[in-house]
Amino acid sequence: MKTENQVQNPPPLATIARLGEHAGEEVCLRGWVYNLRESGKLLFPQFRDGAGIVQGVLFQKTAPPELFARVKSLTQETSVEVTGKVRADARAPGGYELEITGLEIVQLVPPESPYPITPKEHGVDFLMDHRHLWLRSQRQTAILRVRHEVIRAVREFLDHDGFILADAPILTPAACEGTSTLFEVDYFDDKAYLTQSGQLYAEAAAMALGKTYCFGPTFRAEKSKTRRHLTEFWMVEPEMAFAQLDDVMALAERLVAGVVARVLQSCPRELAVLERNLAPLEAVQLPFPRISYDEAVERLRAAGSPIEWGGDLGGTDETLLAREFDRPVMVHRYPAQVKAFYMQPDPVRPEVAMCVDMLAPEGYGEIIGGSQRIHDLDLLRRRIESHHLPEAAFQWYLDLRRFGSVPHGGFGMGIERVVAWLCGIEHIRETIPFPRTIYRIFP
Ligand code: 4AD
Ligand code: MG
Repeated sequence: MKTENQVQNPPPLATIARLGEHAGEEVCLRGWVYNLRESGKLLFPQFRDGAGIVQGVLFQKTAPPELFARVKSLTQETSVEVTGKVRADARAPGGYELEITGLEIVQLVPPESPYPITPKEHGVDFLMDHRHLWLRSQRQTAILRVRHEVIRAVREFLDHDGFILADAPILTPAACEGTSTLFEVDYFDDKAYLTQSGQLYAEAAAMALGKTYCFGPTFRAEKSKTRRHLTEFWMVEPEMAFAQLDDVMALAERLVAGVVARVLQSCPRELAVLERNLAPLEAVQLPFPRISYDEAVERLRAAGSPIEWGGDLGGTDETLLAREFDRPVMVHRYPAQVKAFYMQPDPVRPEVAMCVDMLAPEGYGEIIGGSQRIHDLDLLRRRIESHHLPEAAFQWYLDLRRFGSVPHGGFGMGIERVVAWLCGIEHIRETIPFPRTIYRIFP
């Protein structure tokens, strides 16, 4: 039986995702108007609160006229506080409906200047120009939730595995991944570069901590317009002391398998909104196939690619090769000439590097690039020279080979590439809240 006190209390604040906990009760929701449908003397406003969408119902016959008029006036994305009784309804999208009992408007979107993104189809340029609003759509919030889960899974995996987070700087004095994609910035009377990778610093941290990772934004002045490249993207980079290429590959596959399992478990609703086919993700089980670059070239040639030994795999080659496997494939020992200066040469075949790229299935291409690093001082010095890199800027990095150098290695995993693959979306630009590409730095 309700006491006097409870009757006077406002209904409890609820979220749409957890409406089921309030079936039969009156609750208050805070959110935005997603849509308004009318059918005769019935109003069906839909509300979203960031976690879900629920349909409200209001009968003209039973509603106070003033409330009915207010609900009828609602425009898309008007912010509201709505109270109503939660009713289980098998036909409703989330399984529940809200019988509206009250509604306060926080800010009415004026009908004469309506929300620009309507349920009709818009071109991608229009949507990207309105990215700050487009983020509110069901599809975009689903992608951002998957991204959140990927990042959380990565961090928890590494934290539980004994890796210590030690973030790398964004402003750096030198290139890590080749000089052709550097962003230069004025740094007082000098020049600095936006980091392409935290790896060199992660190596220093690994010598201090044993197992470490950095996780932050990285920058590449990518001049090509592809669906896989951003100019600003987030990379997680674990690095291990006393590690060789096999250790790097073992960590990479465990991490990716763990992240996929976690997203399948935690994001079924989001994957459903994205209409993601789950079968290819469920197939991502350990161990992942490992093939040498030599074998990759043979397979590609057999599949009709014109690739010659010695060149890097292009996007088309990656797609073609990955198609031969039902889970991510690790390609190791690329020709040293197409890879970065810091990679350890194979002791029995110095023309190939002790490196690995992990290629995602379904045409998503490279999601991980990593290697064992050169630990010999003289060899590293020669590589810096032959790559025309400024030795002075790398003195600190060479120090790591002067003071207790050990075999070590690690990799970088691009978060956006992983999110694009897991969400099954065509273009990487939707996997980050505000994408940066050669053509876009707005909004
Ligand atoms: O293969 P990359 O260039 O490797 C490195 O930067 C190493 N220093 C990492 C390391 O060993 N610590 O880049 C690693 C990953 C790629 O596999 C890809 O997933 C992602 O970063 N990536 C990009 N993602 C989006 N846009 C771009 N332009 C990217 N470039 C690389
Ligand atoms: Mg790479």
